[in-house]
Amino acid sequence: MNSSTTEKIKIQKSDETRIDQVDFDNLVFGNVFSDHMFECDYKDGVWQNPTIRPYGPLTLSPAAKVFHYGQAVFEGMKAFKDDNGKIWLFRPDQNAKRINKSAARLAIPEFPEDIFFEALTTMVKMDSEWVRPGDGNSLYIRPFVIATQAGVGASPSTEYKFMILMSPAQAYYTGDIKVEIAEHYSRSANGGVGAAKAAGNYAAQFFPTNLAREKGFQQVIWTDANAHEYLEEAGTMNVFFRVNDKLLTAPISDRILDGVTRKSVIALAKKDNIAVEERRVLVSEIVEASKNGTLKEIFGAGTAAVISPIDAFSFQKRTYNLEKQADSYAAKFKKELTDIQRNRSEDPFGWRFEVV
Ligand SMILES: Cc1ncc(COP(=O)(O)O)c(C=O)c1O
Repeated sequence: MNSSTTEKIKIQKSDETRIDQVDFDNLVFGNVFSDHMFECDYKDGVWQNPTIRPYGPLTLSPAAKVFHYGQAVFEGMKAFKDDNGKIWLFRPDQNAKRINKSAARLAIPEFPEDIFFEALTTMVKMDSEWVRPGDGNSLYIRPFVIATQAGVGASPSTEYKFMILMSPAQAYYTGDIKVEIAEHYSRSANGGVGAAKAAGNYAAQFFPTNLAREKGFQQVIWTDANAHEYLEEAGTMNVFFRVNDKLLTAPISDRILDGVTRKSVIALAKKDNIAVEERRVLVSEIVEASKNGTLKEIFGAGTAAVISPIDAFSFQKRTYNLEKQADSYAAKFKKELTDIQRNRSEDPFGWRFEVV
């Protein structure tokens, strides 16, 4: 499946940059894109014609299968500029592997990792001015694959487009988040696509998340689809619970995304001698821990916000508030991770990848 192309990436440089029109101090996440994008088509069983060209619209048949059956997967990763102007990616090998794992689940042919890396690094170098230095600033990178074959027969497409877009981002400050624990809707089920970054997983969350928003909660923490007894993950974040000084998080399964931030937090916790249990976490045990005062923190972990502290959760119409901790694990992991990402500390795990 991993049919490669020997073709070099073609480069069509943009005649002018749009960078001067961008207000980097007032970016809305994911709304502005850098000067170039990458595209590569799958046709006749081969990925072909890899091209970097000016960011702009696509022409697709309205019968393209992505529009009808949602055969699409994506990734999210970031580039950072350090205080000396060098640009780094954070664990990009993980995203390269994960997009292919997602693709396999959606019957999409895998994309060659060597072309992925060459495209990624070439584009980041070309649009290096779009990566701003300084706390909180990054270039969010969105690789994705869509089914492009024209035809409304419900079968896997024979043609695809792999693309990469890049969007400058500022600190993703979410404020303290209040979450609702899911008691009716589900994000994923055994044997489903929950572990894939499949586009439809996100569309399916919009409606229940809107209902939660109307009640004053920014996010939903999804629970198992069987009985809504076990805590799983949030919309775009894995979730950690600190009970006394121990961290609990749901194990990876075919319902949960194997988050890069999640696995990085677990590695940091182990290095820092903080106990972590990857096991099924009952809603009832977190409610109980909140009542008896042993629940110290809940936080989300994901590329966009890195670590998001959660300051309240609701379950069965009752809201449980968390007190601020002087020795917050959320704050500690956020600093440790961002220091590694921005080349401000040692990188004992070899997570940083130097682009230029
Ligand atoms: C459903 C879901 N869970 C967790 C995450 C966090 O994963 P990562 O840390 O790799 O960004 C994401 C975001 O990618 C996500 O979409």
